[in-house]
Amino acid sequence: MPLGELHGKHLVTIEGLNMDHLSPVQQAIVDEGATQCGFCTPGIVVSLTGYLMKDKIIINEEGVKKTLSGHLCRCTGYRSLKQSAFFLKDTVEGHTGIDTLVANRMIPDYFPGIPDRLRKMQSSVFGAGEKSTDYFIAGGTDLYVQKGDLLPESKVHLLNLHPEMKAISKKNGYIHVGALTTFEEFANHPDIANAIPDIQAYMSRIASLQIRNRATLGGNIINASPIGDMTTLLLALEAVLVLENDAQSRTVPITSFFRGYKQLDKIPSEILADILIPEFPLNTKINFEKVSKRKYLDIASVNSAMKIRREDGIIREIGLSMGGVAPVPLFLKATSHYFIGKQVCRDVVEGAFSIIQQEICPISDIRGSVDYKRLLARQLIIAHFTKLFPERVAVRDFYETY
Ligand code: FES
Repeated sequence: MPLGELHGKHLVTIEGLNMDHLSPVQQAIVDEGATQCGFCTPGIVVSLTGYLMKDKIIINEEGVKKTLSGHLCRCTGYRSLKQSAFFLKDTVEGHTGIDTLVANRMIPDYFPGIPDRLRKMQSSVFGAGEKSTDYFIAGGTDLYVQKGDLLPESKVHLLNLHPEMKAISKKNGYIHVGALTTFEEFANHPDIANAIPDIQAYMSRIASLQIRNRATLGGNIINASPIGDMTTLLLALEAVLVLENDAQSRTVPITSFFRGYKQLDKIPSEILADILIPEFPLNTKINFEKVSKRKYLDIASVNSAMKIRREDGIIREIGLSMGGVAPVPLFLKATSHYFIGKQVCRDVVEGAFSIIQQEICPISDIRGSVDYKRLLARQLIIAHFTKLFPERVAVRDFYETY
């Protein structure tokens, strides 16, 4: 996170949670023997406390796992950590939210006074930076890794100081998603949950909670990684991008936005402001698949998404995308076109295998060989259809053609 983004915010470190007694979170970690070398412990205490600070949450396994998902502990193992969180369930039942936590001596009593203190500090002027700049920074989750040494010396423009680029709303047949919407904000929005019912399951395979709280949809697109997970999903949904340059704006379909490796249909001064997802009829089905060396917290070897709508058993609309198989995140135009007007059955799905092989051009790298990625392309097409139409095709139908 760029330091400039902290202006007007309250940053809570482990020291900021100190009281004259251990907080229930700290006590639970001690009681369950969930700390050894202590390297990971401060972060875990801060995250679990943050989890309890949200108003009226019900502590459950899902929430605990999500909260701990970005933390690595090499000493104690996760069992005792999870147990300490569950132990909290009995201690703090019904006692979430800042005021109740203070009243129960679970966080220091200076917390409720912070909004007032921050308001008094707002008078100092702080800008996002010049628009003539070396870098525009949104979440920075990739940029700070790639260019961490360079950025402190560079002219940067902090896009997150433009909150107007965050909203999600429905208008004129599109879901408008501000480019600065984070992955978590996107997944938790009711319009998105309605349109993409399994979005939470996809999110569990994408980065960690901490990264999803920072990473933005716009950043994922502009970064132009050939295996950006959200970009692959937005490609299948055939989103439209709104690019702004001072007072001017233009739209570009995401399917034609990527021109070559890290080359975009965009001039340097343009900013991606909005992502428009076409609203689709209720009988549209969506699926996202990701294969990575490690199931969680990993970059995809190959990922893919599909949006499909049938009428009277015939495929009328389909968008297929794939990442990790070309220099760009790829919209599979020819393969998508092949399916139009056809039924879902084994022969039709098999017929796509040769088309997709011509459409992709993977390279061998740390995430897999060319042959492996070509095999995955085939397997992920099978995965889409067998998941969305189990009554029409099953994985075993394709065994003999392997
Ligand atoms: Fe050592 Fe977690 S206690 S890394």
